[in-house]
Amino acid sequence: MNVVLNYLRANQKRFVQELCDYVRFPSVSAQPAHGEDMIRCATWLVKHCKQIGLQARLCPTDGHPVVFAKTPAPVALRHRKPSKKGTRRPHFMVYGHYDVQPPEPFGLWKTPPFEPTIRHRSLFGRGASDNKGQNLAHLKAVEAYLKTGEELPCDLTFVIEGEEEVGSNSLAGFLQQHRAALDCDAVIVSDTGMPSPKHPALTYALRGIAAFEITLRGPNRDLHSGIFGGSVQNPATALAQLLAKVHDANGRVAIPGFYRAVVKLSDFERKQMARVPFNGKAYRKFLGVPELFGERGFTPDEQRTSRPTFEINGLTSGYQGEGSKTIVPAWASAKITARLVPNQKPAQIIQAVRAFLLRHCPPTVALEIQSGHGAEAYLVSPRSAHAQAALRALRQAFGYEPVLLREGGSIPIVNQFKTILGADTLLLGLALPDDNAHSPNEKFDLDVFAKGQQMSARLWRELAGKVDGYMSAYK
Ligand code: BES
Ligand code: MN
Repeated sequence: MNVVLNYLRANQKRFVQELCDYVRFPSVSAQPAHGEDMIRCATWLVKHCKQIGLQARLCPTDGHPVVFAKTPAPVALRHRKPSKKGTRRPHFMVYGHYDVQPPEPFGLWKTPPFEPTIRHRSLFGRGASDNKGQNLAHLKAVEAYLKTGEELPCDLTFVIEGEEEVGSNSLAGFLQQHRAALDCDAVIVSDTGMPSPKHPALTYALRGIAAFEITLRGPNRDLHSGIFGGSVQNPATALAQLLAKVHDANGRVAIPGFYRAVVKLSDFERKQMARVPFNGKAYRKFLGVPELFGERGFTPDEQRTSRPTFEINGLTSGYQGEGSKTIVPAWASAKITARLVPNQKPAQIIQAVRAFLLRHCPPTVALEIQSGHGAEAYLVSPRSAHAQAALRALRQAFGYEPVLLREGGSIPIVNQFKTILGADTLLLGLALPDDNAHSPNEKFDLDVFAKGQQMSARLWRELAGKVDGYMSAYK
């Protein structure tokens, strides 16, 4: 093990340069203009995987390509017949994504998003944290095994996709198609957060999501507001009134049935959550809000990770250009996502929302609801043997007692890892709260990068149960 850890330590400088090379690709999956950049980034990644000793290829899909790579069979086993099922080596899949969120607005970046720059031991650039730095940490750990000749106690397959930030549309098909090759004991994903470098984390729950768009249509064209205003319903006003009915004064969603399937947090969970220190004032300042707001009866951490929400993501109506224009707009629309918690079904939530909006929509406008993507929440036991192995790897690499987290974000494909591959996912996130994922000035902490590599290197031994003496140390 030491030879692996020493290799990692000795090569940090090069690894950081490689992360810069990776971040330099503007692999923005949402923007068609970056189609070629997506392929260039994925091709670089395949080449990189080969350089470190993996067998790798680019797999085209209907959308952006998937990078597929695996560890070569150990020399000692190379000429053996495949063993019977049940006696095979442990096999783990590492999932990540090379696509990134759009970098706009460019003006708010201190240095350009695709010109990676190091400041205060952090690498700044779009995708540095979400998710290039995190998946590269795993690749560097496996490189250390392959280049030092230290035996990996398990087989590893890497699946690094290019559509996570736009809903992973091609990946379920890819999983189906490669089901046999991806038959594994668990999936490892580093695409979540950790509260601080002193709080390495195992995330055991993610929120799900239900996306939809509401449009209210009024007059058949934008009207002169002086000539007609007052005699017709203004769709923007109607939409504002309708949306205002969705929450009550306590910050609860007032839609009947919205909370029906929601399970209460256990005392154990609340205790775990309370282990991470929370400073309301610092949080308020960090977000730049005059006061915090949320569903009454829950702490901010509970509100943002373990309670469902109804969020307006975009609101559009009328004239948006410079100066004024006196019209009654013909329509008003809102883009909405509800974040869901375990047991809530996206279809049921959309149904409840639809019924509510239909009941409260005035007869003066026509209501349209278009439903979009949806995914259930994810919940996995933090008590499994695999989870315990992951906690040991985290503890050893970071030198602090890991925390168990529920997180508010969504990684929809983890549900398909379970339904298609039958595998649970271990979420071992390396993103710090101030990494600015999806925001200007995204960064990745280089010390966390190094510790993440060590965590990964230790993880394979812990998961495969090949650590001398660990049973006595952690019983
Ligand atoms: N890495 C995030 C998800 C995440 C962030 C999970 C922080 C937990 C904590 C991922 O890249 C992401 O942004 N997912 C989207 C999914 C959506 C487009 C369906 C999200 O959560 O908004
Ligand atoms: Mn993201």
